[in-house]
Amino acid sequence: MKIFVAKHGGFCFGVTRAIRLAIEASRNGNEVYSLGQLIHNPQVVDDLFKKGIITVNGLRQMKNKNVIIRSHGIHPSVLEKLQKENFNIIDATCPRVRRAQQFVEKLVREGYKVVIVGEKDHPEVRGLLGYAGDKAVIYSEKIAVKEKRIGIVPQTTIEISRLQHAITRLIPDVLEMKIYNTICYETIHRLKEAQDIVKKVDVMIIVGGKNSGNTTRLYEMCRAVKPSYHIESESEIRSRWFRNARRVGITAGASTPREQVKKIAQYLRKLFRSR
Ligand code: F3S
Repeated sequence: MKIFVAKHGGFCFGVTRAIRLAIEASRNGNEVYSLGQLIHNPQVVDDLFKKGIITVNGLRQMKNKNVIIRSHGIHPSVLEKLQKENFNIIDATCPRVRRAQQFVEKLVREGYKVVIVGEKDHPEVRGLLGYAGDKAVIYSEKIAVKEKRIGIVPQTTIEISRLQHAITRLIPDVLEMKIYNTICYETIHRLKEAQDIVKKVDVMIIVGGKNSGNTTRLYEMCRAVKPSYHIESESEIRSRWFRNARRVGITAGASTPREQVKKIAQYLRKLFRSR
């Protein structure tokens, strides 16, 4: 049995940075509150909780004023509220997401209708909408844009094909289209590597939180090609998945620690040795 482990699996730069900032802020024993899970990975969230980094869904649940902004960023109205109420803000917005927010602001200033290509309920997309004064639209097959000058900003973790699709679909209706490619290259490498691995294996394992958008996308992409399983931990692995398999691939989303991927690989090696 051969196991192929993706080199680009594991925490991305933005998530690593957010976790480092949260841990540093909680070091003096003060609790730090994250508005929504700091990272879409239940094991890591539990671990952070033990370090005093607590997930809340609203400001009322906080016992002090230390608040961390997730790598996805935040709606500017929430940021303003935090600033007005003198919160101690630890801003872990990924610099690449911040860049996308700045592009949205720029497009609005220049009079373009902003079209965001992304998942409507993703926190990053909600934040981007906020930076357009909630006047942007989220791309879908059915949208009809009346404006003749549009500016496209993709979510950082979206597949390139979705951006390409939006461009092709909208270009006949406009006079001018400005496109900012804000897709994070970590996302591109991760998807590309998973595409290469899935072609040469019989079964693919995708490790990461079931609530993680980018992990779910990796899973969807892999399962369209080969039998694939999305797991959060080794306890979910079933030996029957590998009955006729000779090659297994492992990849992980941006919110999965590298150690978790290594643990799964070790577990599989053990499992295959015992067969
Ligand atoms: Fe940032 Fe890219 Fe991660 S945008 S949060 S480094 S996937």
